Amino acid sequence: MVELLPLSDIEPQAVEDLLDAAFGADRFGRTAYRIRVGAEAVAALSFALVDDGVLIGTIQCWPVAHRDASGTATPLLMVGPVAVRPDLQRGGHGRVLMAHMLAAAESEADGALMMIGDPEYYGRFFHFDADATAAWDLPGPFERQRLLARAINGHDLPTEAGMIGPR
Ligand SMILES: CC(C)(COP(=O)(O)OP(=O)(O)OC[C@H]1O[C@@H](n2cnc3c(N)ncnc32)[C@H](O)[C@@H]1OP(=O)(O)O)[C@@H](O)C(=O)NCCC(=O)NCCS
Repeated sequence: MVELLPLSDIEPQAVEDLLDAAFGADRFGRTAYRIRVGAEAVAALSFALVDDGVLIGTIQCWPVAHRDASGTATPLLMVGPVAVRPDLQRGGHGRVLMAHMLAAAESEADGALMMIGDPEYYGRFFHFDADATAAWDLPGPFERQRLLARAINGHDLPTEAGMIGPR
């Protein structure tokens, strides 16, 4: 039976092993890791999918901020990694994780959502796009069409130039 649980219920090493399998052990060099350096995942927006006691998917969200040239900070939540065990991908698990996180974010999010991801997936199913992010910058290399965002819970997206980093 597949269950959705708070990610905090899961043994941390099992989460790390799943992320290594989905993204490769060199994942720590990715720009997404630099954006949220030092941050703790938001417990109310981070979930696990468990099948008969075995971890098969995870989603995490992180408190980050957009800072403009004057230093004004707008809180955002960075979504990701979203990871499904490689042998179980394309079976609907990613969509279950994202839908559950978005439902929670409708009432829990203290900022709009951003992520680095495939627009073909996160746009098609979850209404993320790169419209607001054209002038945003990140502390590392990224493909601009993969810098995605969406408003939620009454929090709009900043559109001015700014750097995304820890709050
Ligand atoms: C991306 C990921 C989370 C999607 O979860 P999933 O359970 O495999 O996908 P789902 O079953 O929910 O969705 C399947 C649908 O999305 C499409 N899809 C899946 N991954 C996609 C991608 N990266 N780009 C475009 N479409 C994608 C599939 O073609 C399928 O479409 P269909 O129903 O028309 O055939 C998962 O494949 C994964 O962990 N990938 C490796 C890690 C990664 O890249 N994570 C995302 C960046 S944070």
